[in-house]
Amino acid sequence: MTSVSVPPRKRLYIRTFGCQMNVYDSGRMADVLAPLGYGPVETPEEADMVILNTCHIREKAAEKVFSDLGRLRVMKEAKAEQGQQMVLAVAGCVAQAEGKEIVTRAPWVDIVLGPQTYHRLPEMVARAARAAGAQIDTDFPVETKFDLLPAPQASQGPIAFLTIQEGCDKFCSFCVVPYTRGAEFSRPVAAIMAEAKALVAGGAREIALLGQNVNAWHGEAPDGSTWGLTRLLYALAELENLPRIRYTTSHPRDMDAGLIRAHGEIPQLMPFLHLPVQSGSDRVLEAMNRGHKADMFIRICDELREARPDMALSSDFIVGHPGEKPEDHAATMTLVERVGFALAYSFKYSQRPGTPAAGQPFQVAEAIKDERLQELQALLRIQQDAFNESCVGQECEVLFTGPGRHPGQVMGRTPWLQPVHALGPASLIGGTARVRVAVRFPNSLSATLLDQKELACA
Ligand code: 5AD
Ligand code: SF4
Repeated sequence: MTSVSVPPRKRLYIRTFGCQMNVYDSGRMADVLAPLGYGPVETPEEADMVILNTCHIREKAAEKVFSDLGRLRVMKEAKAEQGQQMVLAVAGCVAQAEGKEIVTRAPWVDIVLGPQTYHRLPEMVARAARAAGAQIDTDFPVETKFDLLPAPQASQGPIAFLTIQEGCDKFCSFCVVPYTRGAEFSRPVAAIMAEAKALVAGGAREIALLGQNVNAWHGEAPDGSTWGLTRLLYALAELENLPRIRYTTSHPRDMDAGLIRAHGEIPQLMPFLHLPVQSGSDRVLEAMNRGHKADMFIRICDELREARPDMALSSDFIVGHPGEKPEDHAATMTLVERVGFALAYSFKYSQRPGTPAAGQPFQVAEAIKDERLQELQALLRIQQDAFNESCVGQECEVLFTGPGRHPGQVMGRTPWLQPVHALGPASLIGGTARVRVAVRFPNSLSATLLDQKELACA
């Protein structure tokens, strides 16, 4: 009789910091470790292996990792006293940027691996179990991890992420991404379409295409031609059972006319776009090496709204970039007033080692950054509230993703990504249904279902 050896069950805890790309990568790390017997657990205390998938975009994000590592050291030592092991890995952009520094600061870390080497994780785990001393791999290997990672295992649920592009060649003055994620890389069409079909088969009804510069994506098609993002969106729109498509994060420089037009022509393309502008001042935009002016951004927003009148926009802002003067900040406020955002993320400029802006003179004082951030966030909050308020009383379609916090409730997302809860049966989860928005809260909505009878038998 032949016996199939089943690896012993081991427990894996992954903590993800930062962007959606990291959320996607964490899923792929879980996939790559599954054949070794690792299954997910809810807390680090229970885990045999803990991975911190890190973000380096701002100083605070990196510091959080080191404070987590301090807490994990205590857990690891307590386990060792009971004769148990806890493999500790630091992955992602802090790992890429800091490399050996992590092990110098936290010698209890076993594995350090950059975002491009996740496919080598099983080998590193095996080596970490055998050898003393940390395993470090922050290469930008010639083989791509996408070819070597197994097909995604776990169903991501009704809303799924699909990385189509990674890295960045734009070198904004303030940003670490070109250094931590490397040069722009686009996955080929066939791999993306295969993954999209698998996600839909696994229950995805919304796919968000991910990339640091997602609209710079240009992939090789099976016939040898090169497609841009617009062509890919039309192809995805042909898939059955995929009522929603999004893409994030886009750069204003790569918002071409065809892509803007697609927003009017592809109903599955959701009427919500995250388009970082960073500043409303041409002088600062130039210092940031953004390659676009304030006017160009405003024109893109206008054209998007012309193509799709219910379009809502979100953006990223940085206040206090080196050299930013009061009049530059005023220009940012003017741009915000002019465009009107449904959602926005705003940050104080943070000096990132190795980036051009970090070494520039005229760094803005912390107190001034605080003041500017408060002023900007107050305006953005007013706009976000006004947008959510404008939804009250309106009908819209919600994709239900899971149970709500209270019994009998279901949770989902509107086309504009607002979290929404409604009273309704669990059978709604995994599909879309029409609702009327009843109340707005600071960061979510409540709604009542329409056509309940029809839905109950659907
Ligand atoms: N300081 C502050 N914010 C930053 N971001 C990127 N780098 C920095 C930095 N050094 C912000 C940008 C970007 C978002 C993901 O993070 O607004 O769009
Ligand atoms: Fe960073 Fe600029 Fe590239 Fe965006 S476009 S990832 S902000 S360098």
